[in-house]
Amino acid sequence: MIELVNVSKSYKVGVKAVDNLSLAIPSGEIVGFLGPNGAGKTTTIKMITGILNPDSGSITINGTDIRQEPLRAKQQFGYVPDSPDMFLRLKGVEYLSFMADIYGVPGYIRKERSRELCRRFEMEGALGDAIQSYSHGMRQKIVLIGALLHDPKVWILDEPMTGLDPRSAFALKEMMREHVQSGKAVFFSTHVLEVAEKLCDKVAIINKGRLQFYGTMQDIRAHFAENESLENIFLEMTEHA
Ligand SMILES: Nc1ncnc2c1ncn2[C@@H]1O[C@H](COP(=O)(O)OP(=O)(O)OP(=O)(O)O)[C@@H](O)[C@H]1O
Ligand SMILES: [Mg+2]
Repeated sequence: MIELVNVSKSYKVGVKAVDNLSLAIPSGEIVGFLGPNGAGKTTTIKMITGILNPDSGSITINGTDIRQEPLRAKQQFGYVPDSPDMFLRLKGVEYLSFMADIYGVPGYIRKERSRELCRRFEMEGALGDAIQSYSHGMRQKIVLIGALLHDPKVWILDEPMTGLDPRSAFALKEMMREHVQSGKAVFFSTHVLEVAEKLCDKVAIINKGRLQFYGTMQDIRAHFAENESLENIFLEMTEHA
């Protein structure tokens, strides 16, 4: 469960990148975070993960406040940032063992989990190479694997499908489903409306820092025409705002 209460953030005076946002992402659900470029999705995600501090409001992850108890809160989630270009000089295998060390994953568990995750993302063959030599999608996958090694209860993913090939995207969606079926939570931003429509239990739509809508696809349709596509609804919602 992730809970944001009245969260605001400005980078420059008078312009709110995130404006009084309240949102609860319950356990057992996949929640998609949608909005145009510059809407405030990454800023929100960076505040949830403790990378940025909000100007006001509070954020808790499974009841732990990210600002008051950052370490405890950070143990609860796995985070994949929007740009996977980091630790480029490490080999894949070194990066995974670094991540496992940080989260204190015991040796026998880390071996088993990384083997399984690498198998699902078809990354076994690349682990001995430097991340610098990876394609964008491969970098995305190694960061994903690293973020999931400690089996976090909450997944927070900023545009995780970008650059993934269809098989890997399918594997990730399947894993998201399995994760929430075991009572955990997934919160991810995306521009791919078809994915949001098919995969998510709920979607949150943000524009200019303000939450425009939060609910199930059925809730959305109840507000609009019954057989309207999410694409049309999205265009309409973000145009009038
Ligand atoms: N480091 C920064 N310094 C100043 N302004 C910033 C910074 N990061 C983001 N912004 C501004 O905050 C607003 C929200 O940006 P944010 O990156 O959160 O959008 P987003 O919804 O993730 O967009 P995208 O879909 O393009 O990833 C934008 O107006 C952006 O210009
Ligand atoms: Mg972004």
